[in-house]
Amino acid sequence: MTDHVLVERPEAYPGVQLIRFNRPEKKNAITREMYAKMTEALTAAGADPAIRATAFLGTQGCFSAGNDMSDFLAFAMGGSMGGEVLDFLRALAGATKPVVSGVDGLAIGIGTTIHLHCDLTVSSARSVFKTPFVDLALVPEAASSLIAPRIMGHQRAFALLAAGEPLDAAGAREAGLIWKIVDEPAVEEETLSLAGRLARKPPEALALRIARDLVRGDRSDVLARIEEEAKHFAAQLKSAEARAAFEAFMRR
Ligand code: COA
Repeated sequence: MTDHVLVERPEAYPGVQLIRFNRPEKKNAITREMYAKMTEALTAAGADPAIRATAFLGTQGCFSAGNDMSDFLAFAMGGSMGGEVLDFLRALAGATKPVVSGVDGLAIGIGTTIHLHCDLTVSSARSVFKTPFVDLALVPEAASSLIAPRIMGHQRAFALLAAGEPLDAAGAREAGLIWKIVDEPAVEEETLSLAGRLARKPPEALALRIARDLVRGDRSDVLARIEEEAKHFAAQLKSAEARAAFEAFMRR
């Protein structure tokens, strides 16, 4: 399996599983193999009582530039998209234990929408959140078309998801996409200690799990929207405009 995603259980934070994007030379763009490894880690977290919270981190200056463009292009040219992305989204949306994330720098595409499924996200002030779906002739994914309007209202969700307008960290906090802004060097420590604090909540009474379920509400509509968006997304990926956009990116 790839080391472009590192899955660790940091000793200093008992009960925490860390999933780290580790492909800085490609701005942590996510390949099918990386999605598969993350799904495996989320599934393991659900089954293992020793894991009580999961934390997502990227690298310094970059959370993730989103889906790997070569994978998009391969699909646009007739290849298989595989089930890895959808499996990951289902595992993320269906996670039964708290998920937190820490962002420093670029957060593009799924690098932004992933946080809609996180319970707490911290970010440095220099981070930028952006989903250029429509500019690539694509459509929103990860149930972002459902969750984002709920948390930030139509206009801000439209600006982000349809117009492709970037959100800086302050805007992301105001919109409810992230929880708090910390100094750049503190992003990792703060993210892991948040996860650690959640992992230390009384495990036997299941109170945190119940509280989380109550706060998140029923997730069947989220899972259904993931599937609905995916149908449009796959069709759009095959469009001539999308293919031209991916080719233009690869040619740069
Ligand atoms: N898929 C594949 N490779 C990617 C990538 C992606 N999503 N994003 C960046 N990379 C690669 C670049 O091709 C480049 O590789 P190279 O050095 O082998 O040429 C490397 O990462 C560095 O990227 P670069 O574009 O040179 O860095 P930058 O700082 O100038 O720009 C971005 C960074 C993220 C703004 C720019 O790379 C970008 O727009 N990426 C695409 C983001 C995107 O649209 N994602 C899909 C959303 S649905």
